[in-house]
Amino acid sequence: MVDQQSPIGVFDSGVGGISTLRTLSAMLPREDFIFYGDSANAPYGEKTADRVYDLTQHAVEQLRSRDVKAIVIACNTATSAAKPELMKRYPDIPFLGIEPAVKLAVDSGKKNILVLATPLTLSLAKFHTQVKRFENQAHIYPLPCPRLAELIERGPAARDDIEEYVAQLLAPTLARVSGEGRALDGAVLGCTHYPFVADIIQRHVGPDVELFTGFEGLGRYLTRQLADRNLLRAEEHAQNVAFMSSKNTPEEKALYRHLFQYGFAQ
Ligand code: DGL
Repeated sequence: MVDQQSPIGVFDSGVGGISTLRTLSAMLPREDFIFYGDSANAPYGEKTADRVYDLTQHAVEQLRSRDVKAIVIACNTATSAAKPELMKRYPDIPFLGIEPAVKLAVDSGKKNILVLATPLTLSLAKFHTQVKRFENQAHIYPLPCPRLAELIERGPAARDDIEEYVAQLLAPTLARVSGEGRALDGAVLGCTHYPFVADIIQRHVGPDVELFTGFEGLGRYLTRQLADRNLLRAEEHAQNVAFMSSKNTPEEKALYRHLFQYGFAQ
């Protein structure tokens, strides 16, 4: 039985959704949250869309068994590959997803926008539709980042490897943009893992490039969805945030809690 006191479920392929959870839990301080990370199967971004659907559906079942009142798919890859089908399959529960915040960057007036995301997110129809919608307003440079989510799954200890990876990954695209006589002014972090290493990405794209995630918009939308169903928790109470991981080890749970509290700080 779901009511105002029920928690909100948040799901990602792994640790990435904890970056989204940090924003959502701060924006909705009266709400309880249950986070489920499928770290045993991460990364999703290099799998097929069908496989990502199956894994996401399994995670949704885990969250539903905890009587959550809404499910946030805090994973761009799983949103693109699975959300419409899941909404059809489970019409009784609100599903929210996340997509690369290209609209937010364009609406902020950015003209040369880098979009960092997983190979699967950038290959699916949802992203192509987004690009078509905005291509007359801005130059959009999609950059698939294979391995980046996987490195971030290793936690803050992988910082040096991530620094090296990001430098190598970005160099050809940065050279291409300046070769076209342009300067990037926006970068969309189109995978929820990437905000954990926003400082590294910022260093490599340069200080004049604004980074976008779209998490605040998601928090506002979640608030509206719950309010419309009379499911927003009315009274003040100490927030409870619980963590579940398919990699069910004490080390993994400790990593989740660390990332939630401190981000990628060591
Ligand atoms: N965090 C996920 C996203 O937002 C995917 C990372 C992965 O598992 O490849 O796309």
